[in-house]
Amino acid sequence: MPKWLDDAVFYEIYPQSFLDTNGDGIGDFEGIIQKLGYIKDLGCNALWLNPCFDSPFMDAGYDVRNYKKTAPRYGTNDDLKRLFAEAHKRGIRVLLDLVPGHTSEEHEWFRQSQKAKPNEYWNRYVWTDQWWKGAKGFGYVAGVAERSSCYVINFFKCQPALNYGFLNVKEPWQLPVDHSDCIATREAMKEVMRFWLDAGCDGFRVDMAGSLVKNDDAQQSGTAAIWRNVREMLDAEYPEAAMVAEWSRPEVSLKAGFHMDFLLSSENPGYQSLLRDYTLTQMNEVSGEDHSFFKKDGNGDITRFLSDYLPLYADGAKNGGHIALITCNHDTVRPRYTLSPQELALAYAVIFTLPGTPFLYYGDEIGMRYLNLPTKEGGYFRTGSRTPMQWNSGKNLGFSTVDASMLYLPVDTSANAPTVEEAEKDSASLLNTIKALLKLRHAEGDLQSKANFEILYAEKDKVPFVYKRGHFVLAVNPSGTAATAAVNSIQGAGKEVFAIGAVTLGNGECRLQAQSFGIWRM
Ligand code: GLC
Repeated sequence: MPKWLDDAVFYEIYPQSFLDTNGDGIGDFEGIIQKLGYIKDLGCNALWLNPCFDSPFMDAGYDVRNYKKTAPRYGTNDDLKRLFAEAHKRGIRVLLDLVPGHTSEEHEWFRQSQKAKPNEYWNRYVWTDQWWKGAKGFGYVAGVAERSSCYVINFFKCQPALNYGFLNVKEPWQLPVDHSDCIATREAMKEVMRFWLDAGCDGFRVDMAGSLVKNDDAQQSGTAAIWRNVREMLDAEYPEAAMVAEWSRPEVSLKAGFHMDFLLSSENPGYQSLLRDYTLTQMNEVSGEDHSFFKKDGNGDITRFLSDYLPLYADGAKNGGHIALITCNHDTVRPRYTLSPQELALAYAVIFTLPGTPFLYYGDEIGMRYLNLPTKEGGYFRTGSRTPMQWNSGKNLGFSTVDASMLYLPVDTSANAPTVEEAEKDSASLLNTIKALLKLRHAEGDLQSKANFEILYAEKDKVPFVYKRGHFVLAVNPSGTAATAAVNSIQGAGKEVFAIGAVTLGNGECRLQAQSFGIWRM
């Protein structure tokens, strides 16, 4: 585990939407470089950039056409290298997004693979043996290739699955995992990793990390074996590189060599119960009763979260890795859709002080809204969480100087759209609250990823939630009424080091006014 992960706080940037510096209506590397000072000042010391490689952008860049070339709309490979160098000068690490499970249908490997005549890339993707038989049990596309086969897809139609083999071979077209062509796929992906690590990146967020080997067993041992092989390479050649999996199975991913795994909206209802206890309709409207824990009148239940989180936390601790808690990501509805800035401040306070590595999604620090927009670049409902960053009251809220009609996605046009400029002026803003909290986290090892964690008070359908990290006691009351909890194990009063609202701890009792949070040094 690279030491720097102990105190890492990540900031996720969707490059399309961060800052446009060359007036084409879309964000770029230079825009990220210009805002590194802002990111550092906010308290984030690591970045995760969503895919920034050459792509037809049918899935926002998760359809890579060339792994070793940046998308021209963001800049050149040299610009990205400059970003790494500028980030490092400020003590910021940069993770790229590795998409190992599939490519774009426009990738040269796929162009070769779909040809009628066998060639080096014929087995680089998963193809059936007959165009008319399909691929039972998988998503597949028929009727478009030169060769007489269908191809298996990993996600959208434009994302053919790379071939890492099948653990349980059930059809003649399924290659075993030790087939030389499947090994060649793995080696090609290691080459991509070396390419960017040599260029100066600090590791990878790995897209759909659990998707590689097909017909895998319940423990995903086929896919895990590939990542262990990658881990050997990293240990030998790039021991400081960090790896975070999009997998949500730390008992598998961390053993396979990842350092972190995400708690995700798609996989973890417990995580959703903190911020988004609802489903979305086809019109992107909230449906169902919302009992989110951080909703003031939601009457939420922290034990729903804990029953999901605690076993994963234990797996993480056992395997020497971390759970990564997110405020949101590019696949998730921004929490501001249903929560007020005050509710968000309490939610982030907890997310940033639980064990593990926190990830802040760009714009969440100012409470950017979810906009109900039609799909763009394969975003579907996710598009509304991907709109341009809101910097100031200038044109397009400071994102770009082009005419609004030329923006790749609209900015929030509501009169009170939050901006960094406004938030910075208000000492009680969400932004300044986060800054103060992250400053404390960086100063205190006991509030960072690895420090001891213990629950002091967490009862079904009740508030507050009280927990301990090393020498600190922390408590939150998201509800609209005051709450008290007996914490008999706590002797003495403790010194309040951070608070949102009025809170006290003493004589074995923790008292919190409505919508408050506190941290005490014991
Ligand atoms: C991951 C990404 C998502 C993408 C999908 C296919 O879940 O986070 O944005 O659409 O994989 O690559």
